[in-house]
Amino acid sequence: MVCLGNICRSPMAEGILKQKAEKHKLAIEIDSAGTSDYHIGDKPDKRASSTCFAKGIDISNLRGRQLCKADFDEFDRIFVMDFSNYENSIALVNEPEKQAKVEMILNLSYPGENRSVPDPYFGGDEGFEQVYHLLDNACDVLIEQIKNEES
Ligand code: 4NP
Repeated sequence: MVCLGNICRSPMAEGILKQKAEKHKLAIEIDSAGTSDYHIGDKPDKRASSTCFAKGIDISNLRGRQLCKADFDEFDRIFVMDFSNYENSIALVNEPEKQAKVEMILNLSYPGENRSVPDPYFGGDEGFEQVYHLLDNACDVLIEQIKNEES
């Protein structure tokens, strides 16, 4: 799960997907990162943590890190929140098969529309609630895809 800072959208996505994977007993590796180095080592934004905590998801132990080349070897799929994240992510690698791992996360719930998860950082609490619901729906689709792959 990738966004710009790795303190708002992508740690929320990581927490949401981890909770769903656990519920469905799926043994998958889930992590998040930012394309920037702005918040390396930082805790998630308080508004991201409290929005998730209210839904029963504790993301307070996560820490910001930067997306790197090795992630393209480590992970099968890389979900980005917006088109800027998309461009910054694919720029890290040259191989088309690695670039093809990068997908806009809302194409799970809105196929082919290339919608973005709005950056809530400079807005109010309601932005985080909206992000939560967008990511919750997208992760439901992802869980169904993975379950179908495994069966
Ligand atoms: P995120 O939000 O990409 O969802 O983690 C942001 C966090 C920090 C900044 C921008 C977006 N920033 O400019 O520091």
